[in-house]
Amino acid sequence: MRNSSATRRKQKLKRLTNKSVLLGVSGGIAAYKAADLVRRLKDDGSSVTVMMTEAALKFITPLSLQVASQNTVYTSVFQEPLKHISLPAQADAMVIAPATANIIAKLANGIADDILSTAFIAFRGPVVIAPAMNERMYEHPLFQENLKRLLSLGIRQVGPESGSLACGEEGTGRLAEVSDIVDAVVAAVTPQDLRGHKIVVTAGPTREHLDPIRFLSNRSSGKMGFSIARAARKRGAEVVLISGPTALKRPWGVVLKQTDSAAEMLRTVKEETKKGATVLIMAAAVADFRPRQQAGIKVDKGAMNSLAMDRTEDIIASVAAQKKRPFIIGFAAETGGNQERAKQKMQRKNMDMIIFNDVTEEGAGFETDTNNVVIFDRKGSAKTGLRSKDEIADAILDRYLEIKT
Ligand SMILES: Cc1cc2nc3c(=O)[nH]c(=O)nc-3n(C[C@H](O)[C@H](O)[C@H](O)COP(=O)(O)O)c2cc1C
Repeated sequence: MRNSSATRRKQKLKRLTNKSVLLGVSGGIAAYKAADLVRRLKDDGSSVTVMMTEAALKFITPLSLQVASQNTVYTSVFQEPLKHISLPAQADAMVIAPATANIIAKLANGIADDILSTAFIAFRGPVVIAPAMNERMYEHPLFQENLKRLLSLGIRQVGPESGSLACGEEGTGRLAEVSDIVDAVVAAVTPQDLRGHKIVVTAGPTREHLDPIRFLSNRSSGKMGFSIARAARKRGAEVVLISGPTALKRPWGVVLKQTDSAAEMLRTVKEETKKGATVLIMAAAVADFRPRQQAGIKVDKGAMNSLAMDRTEDIIASVAAQKKRPFIIGFAAETGGNQERAKQKMQRKNMDMIIFNDVTEEGAGFETDTNNVVIFDRKGSAKTGLRSKDEIADAILDRYLEIKT
């Protein structure tokens, strides 16, 4: 029998459990991506009901979306009378992806002449729109006016992105990434208990260069910091993520600042925390030492027997010394259960909270999708147990809110 921790590790956090999402698909070339969006929403635990415009039927069959959603697909108000009222009444969120210039114009003007636009006007919950079109259409003042009108009503926008467009041109108008649309829907149904907070999160490793070819670094993948940034954004915070080199994708809705060395990370953290940050969460694994000299050309190995090193600047100490300092949360990665050292580190560096993790434990520390931490703060401590990094991120933010309120 598989042990419970192994089972736990395989479980993905389902952020839309017991939620019901209405997906409106309008007639843009990106409509084929709706099938993937349905699958991802369902993967996150949601039930999905699809409504399509007549133009959308030209791009993707209702059968594909019926199979993906395992639900009836609605294409007309007359298909099953009154579904335009009962479906919105039962849904937790509505997402329109792709949203054409035409559907956005109709929604902005209260026109209700098909199942999608009629259900929209009957719906009272959060709505996410993912516009996708040619750049000149997107930039047209009439389109922009319509979009602004919808946004002023609290409707949330995700994308579009820049890149190559289906029409063969380059520009702004690509449908947002499906994972970003899902994240925007998750945020739409999540209590915004961090609204008004500006959170600076660091993540990943730093690189301390010896010459243009070699550097000293560490095993940090950035996953813990990225999970924190994603969780904070989902809960309504304004998030700046300062990351060393990682292979991870920028989380939706987060400002990403890429850095390389510890010195560069320090500069960026100082700049960002001075812009009114309420919290700094230092999940990055910052190098403690850097080569004393950084050569402009490759150092010949014959010319070197040992490497002279200097200490790098301490980022937390430098922010803790600022006159108007944010709430500071640090991390202590240890090999072994040295929790006492983590507590002392919190006090010595004047942090408000420290997250202790023993990287030698199974499923904890670098590169994994899970972690197992102890949260220490000035009032006490709490063990999270082995959980996904996304869940640990929420636990850290929960504790922060408990202390602050
Ligand atoms: C091949 C093709 C691709 C299209 N792609 C888009 C698009 O990406 N975005 C858009 O706003 N309109 C696009 N259109 C135009 C819409 O299909 C058209 O405006 C239609 O009236 C939209 O109807 P709906 O909003 O009810 O779905 C495209 C049309 C064609 C023929």
